[in-house]
Amino acid sequence: MQRLYRKRIVLGVGGGIAAYKSAELVRRLRDQGAEVRVVMTSGGREFITPLTLQALSGHPVHLDLLDTAAEAAMGHIELARWADLVLIAPATADLMARLAQGVANDLLTTVVLATNAPIALAPAMNQAMWADPATQANRQLLEQRGIRLFGPGSGSQACGDIGMGRMLEADELAHAAADCFDTGLLTGLHLLITAGPTQENIDPVRYITNHSSGKMGFALAEAAVEAGARVTLVSGPVFLPTPDRVQRIDVVSARDMLAACEAAMPCDLLIAAAAVADYRPEVVAPHKLKKDPTSGEGLLLQMVRNPDILATLAGREDRPFSVGFAAETENLLEYATRKLRDKNLDLIVANDVANPGIGFNSEENAVTVIDRQQRETRFSQASKGHIARQLIAFIADRYRQA
Ligand code: C5P
Repeated sequence: MQRLYRKRIVLGVGGGIAAYKSAELVRRLRDQGAEVRVVMTSGGREFITPLTLQALSGHPVHLDLLDTAAEAAMGHIELARWADLVLIAPATADLMARLAQGVANDLLTTVVLATNAPIALAPAMNQAMWADPATQANRQLLEQRGIRLFGPGSGSQACGDIGMGRMLEADELAHAAADCFDTGLLTGLHLLITAGPTQENIDPVRYITNHSSGKMGFALAEAAVEAGARVTLVSGPVFLPTPDRVQRIDVVSARDMLAACEAAMPCDLLIAAAAVADYRPEVVAPHKLKKDPTSGEGLLLQMVRNPDILATLAGREDRPFSVGFAAETENLLEYATRKLRDKNLDLIVANDVANPGIGFNSEENAVTVIDRQQRETRFSQASKGHIARQLIAFIADRYRQA
């Protein structure tokens, strides 16, 4: 199993002799299925060439904050949003000090400040530098802010000393990176997730649908599995691979989706991320509808309401903890709050689909979660994978409190 399958890792390479191990680390991360983009500090470049890391990662290495051509290709904010994890290996004493102070005087430190992905450091330095009270104070500060430290290990050092400060080996770091995603927050629970659009047939060749790509629902399924849940994913027609260890049930129409969900019950949590068609044609024509040559008039389709899958399941006696989505183009929070109440939900995830670049059919999202007390929690723009992991952690927390 590739424990980092499709995870996006920004690997920061600082200026220490252990940078030679970063080349191996890129290989190990990719062996585990990760996509890797390398950012090097100017010190890092003294120890290993960008060309080596470019060849191993398969992407140009990011070097300068103030390089207009590089910024135009993938700027520091895009890199920060792209990341599911920022891993800095080696993290020198100087880098740790700059990060502790919130300094952003090069590309790597800027990406660290700008990202809301988890950050992990693999310290590598001389044992006396590691033991120095200044470094230890920085370590403590960074850990208090939720930055993880992988290592350092102890042993013989390049400078001839023996002690703490060796960077962990590439294999150990790749495993530690994968552990960041395996949270165990939903262990033992059954999650039912709906995703994608539905298709409502008009005749044998035509249907009504919408722009949903299914990416958010699939990302949630993947994050829920990582959190230890058993996941049933009921999906409308989408072009996405089934995430590892997810039980996927493919459906076409809203009524199929409801039937599949009812068959998958009971569940502990329901996340309805599908964009279900509210209406379907009252009758599906048995043959392809023909243009009427005698009439210049339009075609009138009689539509009827589809069942509301989420409201139906949230209204059952064995009601799961229920989370809905509200994709709106206007009055986002007001409409979302109304849906939360009308559908008897525990949480609603509101996303503004009028905003270009996020939401429907895009790679990134930014959402606000509203609870029954109308408290709002905002998750700022990031990849759907990262938003999904944040949402799963938040939902797991609220489920435990309920
Ligand atoms: O009412 P609206 O369609 O905006 O509500 C959105 C939420 O309700 C989403 O979570 C969606 O998956 C769910 N829904 C549903 N069945 C429907 C319509 C919406 O489960 N027929």
